[in-house]
Amino acid sequence: MRPSNAVRTVWDAEAIDTSHLGFRPIQKIATIHASSGFIRGIPKNIVLSSPERGSPLMAALAFALHILGAVVWVGGMCAIYICLRPALVTLEPPQRLRLMRVTFQKFFPWVWTAVLLLLASGYSMVFIVFGGFAGAGLHVHLMQGIGWLMIALFVWLFHGPWLAFKSAVDAEDWPRAGTSLDRIRQIISINLPLGLIVVLIGASGRFWG
Ligand code: HEM
Repeated sequence: MRPSNAVRTVWDAEAIDTSHLGFRPIQKIATIHASSGFIRGIPKNIVLSSPERGSPLMAALAFALHILGAVVWVGGMCAIYICLRPALVTLEPPQRLRLMRVTFQKFFPWVWTAVLLLLASGYSMVFIVFGGFAGAGLHVHLMQGIGWLMIALFVWLFHGPWLAFKSAVDAEDWPRAGTSLDRIRQIISINLPLGLIVVLIGASGRFWG
């Protein structure tokens, strides 16, 4: 039953005829003036970003997995770079390098998992929610570009400095381990801000992208 007051809420495609606006809402997306059809308080692209294709459940799952991937990867880098790294000065070099070897050995499988989740869920959203790249906003293109840069840096970190660091610690070659750890630190010092920027772009992009 339709509310009788002047302002109503769009709940589904049947609730209101929005064909003149060029979209078919399938969830609560906006408050709309019954008399004028004028959508208030919500940027136009929010409406266009609402799941128009595929099932809302699939879209919700993709969003949730995407956020999980971002939280694990960027949050993990934050914890290691901002909290753990300054605490390491309390340890002697061999202890410090051994601790970092174990930490990265535990962290990197989670990063690979996060990368796979972000890619699978990100491209699922592009096709399920936006119906392809032509329908996606600037924020999605920026996210994709910076995301691939982050992934490339991580692949380099993993196959270069990390494998060198691991073998140097195992051989107790502390100067070589220190050099590789410094390279890992440099790469994370680039990837962490990139990750934070991507999170800001992803979370805010629907308002401007
Ligand atoms: C590499 C390919 C990627 C693709 C194709 C992709 C795609 C997308 C899409 C389509 C959205 C939904 C945008 C919207 O609702 O308007 C999104 C949101 C988001 N993405 Fe990505 N993304 C990628 C990488 C990343 C990375 C690397 C991160 C962070 C490390 C990230 C973090 C986020 C966040 C935080 C959101 C916001 C979700 C929300 O507001 O609910 N994305 N992404």
